[in-house]
Amino acid sequence: MYPLLRLLIFVLTHEQAHRFVVFLLRLIAAVPGGLWLLRRCCAVEDPSLACEVFGVKFRNRIGAAAGLDRNGEIYDALGAIGLGFVEVGTITPNAQSGNPTPRAFRLADRGAILHRTGQPNRGLQSAIRHLRRNHHGVVVGCNLGCNASTPPEDAPQDVLKLFRNLYQYADYFTINVSGDDVRDAHLTQSEPYIMHLLEPLFDFRRGQNQYRPILLKISPDLTNEEIDTITDILIRTPLDGIVAANGTQQLPDDLPKRVGKGRLSGRPLTERTIEIVRRIHTRSGGTYPIIGTGGMMTPSDVQAMLDAGADLVQLCTGLIFEGPRLVKAVCASLIEREKARAAEQEQPQVE
Ligand SMILES: Cc1cc2nc3c(=O)[nH]c(=O)nc-3n(C[C@H](O)[C@H](O)[C@H](O)COP(=O)(O)O)c2cc1C
Repeated sequence: MYPLLRLLIFVLTHEQAHRFVVFLLRLIAAVPGGLWLLRRCCAVEDPSLACEVFGVKFRNRIGAAAGLDRNGEIYDALGAIGLGFVEVGTITPNAQSGNPTPRAFRLADRGAILHRTGQPNRGLQSAIRHLRRNHHGVVVGCNLGCNASTPPEDAPQDVLKLFRNLYQYADYFTINVSGDDVRDAHLTQSEPYIMHLLEPLFDFRRGQNQYRPILLKISPDLTNEEIDTITDILIRTPLDGIVAANGTQQLPDDLPKRVGKGRLSGRPLTERTIEIVRRIHTRSGGTYPIIGTGGMMTPSDVQAMLDAGADLVQLCTGLIFEGPRLVKAVCASLIEREKARAAEQEQPQVE
């Protein structure tokens, strides 16, 4: 059925298609038995896929990246297609409409999407309404950002407000310092700025009965030295992990003129994001959680990301192009990987 749906979706613009899919998934979830049927048709389940990362239990390591479920409307349906977790957002305190449309373009020949959405979302209150629902076993993370109108010095207040109010509704939090179209990327990913954002969150968390992991989402355009600085923050502070990475702002010269500027996601990111994850993993001694995202288009990309040291992997552009069959193929390949590992361990060791 997905090939037919895919044909229809590809006639629409990216944003029209996104709205249509959100509508369809919400409809399925609202029908009694709809999620069960979706799970039966799409999900690949196996106990060998389960894992625990930053103290949270996941059905499997494969999740949906931020930008797919901006308001928390479809995490249950995304779970039913077989994803182990969904990162909702980017959520900002107040609703915002984002940049003028058109602002997202599929570049199918490159396996890429150029986007400059400006984090449109319905804001904190709407997210709370949706996240109050039953999570149906899917791990839900919240990706937090500040409103475009917020001056940089007030960014910590925006993020703290979101964190406090969403604390009881999410399993983990990602602070998005990499998706800002308004503030300078090198400022928002500098150590003082990051610590300014994180310290109030650490303080608030210390006073809570339940622990919620905090991760930081970075840009793939950071230099290796900047990545090392952020890895050192991970080692030195109570930060729990890193999400690497967002779309790149380094665009090739031969992009079609009509698409303009923005971030490029998908296939062009694969190599760099795997390299970044390997760098963070090596520098941090392999002991800190990393979510790898960026250019995960095939099961072998996901395997390479896990081999580089990622604990969890998020799909975004690959899922937009391939739909649930990518999740199915990735999970099936991970089951094979686990079987091969188990068989290897059973081999008698020859001296
Ligand atoms: C249309 C679109 C919208 C996105 N919106 C967000 C967002 O709101 N917040 C965020 O942190 N990342 C956002 N992203 C980035 C993705 O979460 C992901 O980090 C990035 O696209 C790399 O993964 P990919 O190559 O598999 O797409 C968006 C990506 C796309 C394609």
